[in-house]
Amino acid sequence: MDHDVTAPHMLDDETVAVIGAGNIGRSLIGGMIRSDLIDPGRVIATRRTASALEAMADEFGGLRTTTDNVAAVREATTVLLTIKPQSRAEVVTEIRDHLSRTALVISVLAGITTERLQVAFGQDQPVVRAMPNTPALVDEGATAITPGTYAGDEHLRVARVIFEAVGQVVETREALMDAVTGLSGSGPAYVYMFIEALTDAGVKQGLSRDVAATLAAQTVYGAAKLAIETGKHPAILRDEVTTPGGTAIAAVSELESRGLRTTIINAVATATDRSQALNEE
Ligand SMILES: NC(=O)c1ccc[n+]([C@@H]2O[C@H](COP(=O)([O-])OP(=O)(O)OC[C@H]3O[C@@H](n4cnc5c(N)ncnc54)[C@H](OP(=O)(O)O)[C@@H]3O)[C@@H](O)[C@H]2O)c1
Repeated sequence: MDHDVTAPHMLDDETVAVIGAGNIGRSLIGGMIRSDLIDPGRVIATRRTASALEAMADEFGGLRTTTDNVAAVREATTVLLTIKPQSRAEVVTEIRDHLSRTALVISVLAGITTERLQVAFGQDQPVVRAMPNTPALVDEGATAITPGTYAGDEHLRVARVIFEAVGQVVETREALMDAVTGLSGSGPAYVYMFIEALTDAGVKQGLSRDVAATLAAQTVYGAAKLAIETGKHPAILRDEVTTPGGTAIAAVSELESRGLRTTIINAVATATDRSQALNEE
C-alpha cells in the first residue's frame, strides 16, 4: 500500500538519534530515509555491534552510526528509544544527563508508561510512547502513539510522521495502550496462526504445501487490502463472498458454531490483561 501521508523533508529541522537500531529501529530508519523525510546525515543509529552498524551504513548511504549512545543523543532533537525493555535501565541511566531537556524522546518500549519515562529522564522531558508492530519491517505497520504530559502538538507531529513512514498511525489515550498491545501489537501472531491453519486446511484437501501457503497468505493480504482500500464494513465484504446456498456460507456457519468471534475477543482480552500485568511488575 502507498502511504502518501508523509511528504519529503518533513523532518528536515530534526536530528534523530535511534538508540538500539535493531529490527524496529532499523525499519524506522529505512522508512524515514526512503520517504525522503530527512537527510540521512541527520540520522544517527546506535547499537553495540559495530559490524551491524557498518552494514546499516552501507545500506543507507549517508547514515551516521556509532556505538556511543551519549555522543548520539548529545546532538539529537529527537531520540528514538528502540532498545529491548531489559536494556532500558542501563541505557536511560547512560544517556539521561546528556540529552537536551527539550529533546523529544519517542519510546517503543512495550509496557513502559510516559510517566515512568518522564521520571527517568527528568520530569519535564517531552515524551511520546508508541506501540508499533512487526509489519513495520515491510512498511505496513500499525502503530498507536500517545503523548506524555509535556509533549505538545509539534512533538506528536514528529512522532506521527516517523511512524507513518512505516505504515498507519493512530493516536490514543495512554490507558488504552494495553488494548493496543493486545490487538495490533500482538495481532500479527494471531494472523500467522490463521495463515498456518488455512495452509494446513488446504493440505488436508490435497493441495501441495507450497501452493496452499501461497494461497493462504495472499488471501489474508488481499482481503485486508480490500477492506482498507474500499473502507467497506467487513460484514458487507463477507456478504459479497457468500452466495446463497454456496460454499463460503457453509464455512461461515461452521466458524460461527465454533465461536470464532468470541475466541478472538477473549484472546485479545487475555493479551490486554497480560500487558497490564507486565506494566505492574
Ligand atoms: N518486535 C515487535 O513486535 C515490537 C512491537 C512493539 C514494540 N516493540 C518494542 O521494540 C523494541 C525493540 O524491539 P526489536 O524487535 O527491534 O528488538 P531488537 O531487534 O533486539 O533491537 C534492539 C537493539 O538494541 C541494541 N542494543 C542493546 N543494548 C544496547 C545498548 N546498551 N546500547 C545501544 N543499543 C543496544 C541491540 O543491538 P546490539 O546487541 O548490537 O547492541 C538490538 O539491535 C522493544 O522494546 C520492544 O518492546 C517491538
